[in-house]
Amino acid sequence: MQENILIIGNGGREYAMGLVLKDDKRVEGLYFAPGNGGTHALGTNISAIKHTDILESIKKYAITLVIIGPEAPLSEGLSDFLKEHNVRVFGPSLAASRLESSKAYMKDLVSQAGIKTARYMQSSDVKTLSEFIYTLTPPIVVKADGLCAGKGVIIAQSHSEAITHTKEMLSGKAFGNAGMRVVIEEFLDGYELSVFAISDGKDFIMLPACQDHKRLLSGDNGPNTGGMGAYTPTPLCDETLLEKIKKDIIAPILDMMRKQGSPFVGVLFGGIMVCERDNELEPYLLEFNVRFGDPECEVLMPLLQTPLLDIVTHAIDGKITQLECKMKQKYAVAVVASSKDYPYKSSPAVPISVKEFDMNLGHIVYAGVSKTESGEILASGGRVLLAVGLADSLSLARDNAYEIMRHISFDGMHYRDDIAFRALGK
Ligand code: AMP
Ligand code: GLY
Repeated sequence: MQENILIIGNGGREYAMGLVLKDDKRVEGLYFAPGNGGTHALGTNISAIKHTDILESIKKYAITLVIIGPEAPLSEGLSDFLKEHNVRVFGPSLAASRLESSKAYMKDLVSQAGIKTARYMQSSDVKTLSEFIYTLTPPIVVKADGLCAGKGVIIAQSHSEAITHTKEMLSGKAFGNAGMRVVIEEFLDGYELSVFAISDGKDFIMLPACQDHKRLLSGDNGPNTGGMGAYTPTPLCDETLLEKIKKDIIAPILDMMRKQGSPFVGVLFGGIMVCERDNELEPYLLEFNVRFGDPECEVLMPLLQTPLLDIVTHAIDGKITQLECKMKQKYAVAVVASSKDYPYKSSPAVPISVKEFDMNLGHIVYAGVSKTESGEILASGGRVLLAVGLADSLSLARDNAYEIMRHISFDGMHYRDDIAFRALGK
């Protein structure tokens, strides 16, 4: 069957999915809503945002499959809306998306399922939260309940700092309604992994683990961001550890979702903290997201040997275990180039210069970019683009990513120089 595919979203994640779908012979038309200044080159951008406008476009362009990239449209029930209108859609329901859109709900469910996670208290009452804060030893983690574009987590260095942030969140000043309920957590010390399960509501398959780099600056310094770079596969997650994550974290939550009547169909993203306990590595669940990670998607997509289209359609059709999901025996490293004032404020749009480079090194993924009428690509968002290096070894893949980056420049461009440092050293 020939497909006309619509990808919802405008980031690097959606560009990366588009890049692999474009090369699939079964894909006749590729559309993005709203897309970015780079996705123009892969397909057609549609300006629809409202559900009804998206549905209009689906009819107009005879779309056969919709893939929802980001969390926001999922938490607004776009998947349910499209299903009600008989559209084939990949992305969890509104009910299943609560795993990401409410940290308080997620923590309660995770505890019920017996999954290891940081000790916590969730409440909208400052007294209850303050009492719990004093039972913890700093640093203390303060989280807004709702979606805050990756900015709703604060690591407080003292009890009083934790209480100040809690009050600010609860007042609505810090994050509006998203902060009206707060989760306080004990701080877990370890290293982080991003794991991805593709679930059809009954069964699931796992993709290789990735490592993201959340902090803005090299050496894991500076504020948290949406992610400044990622790589996969990582030697920090061997078969044994991945199996443990699968058995102790992913399977129990998917079981729980099914039992409570909101089966999860889509990409389940586990943010894992690997801690050392009695000389053993023990994975703890930090958070669940209900979509691919960004920039993790940018390193997973080019390594898929089994086509993304097959993964998506097998999940939708409830037969994911009939698929043998194979990866290329390669490594991918993605380095994010961000704008001058990211993540604090937006920066004025500036032109991007890209000099020709050897395509064997890898490729560029466009994210926060727009296109002028004359066809020029401008850096207009926070995370502007990614250099994705591919190779037979992790160290060469990293060299390739930085080699590509040396061919790119724009005013105020910033990137970390140590992506994959936990696996390779600096
Ligand atoms: P989250 O959005 O919940 O994944 O949190 C964002 C980032 O904050 C994570 O990727 C971690 O780097 C950090 N973080 C969140 N919760 C904890 C915790 N309990 N202990 C240590 N770091 C945490
Ligand atoms: N890279 C982390 C995220 O997508 O939330």
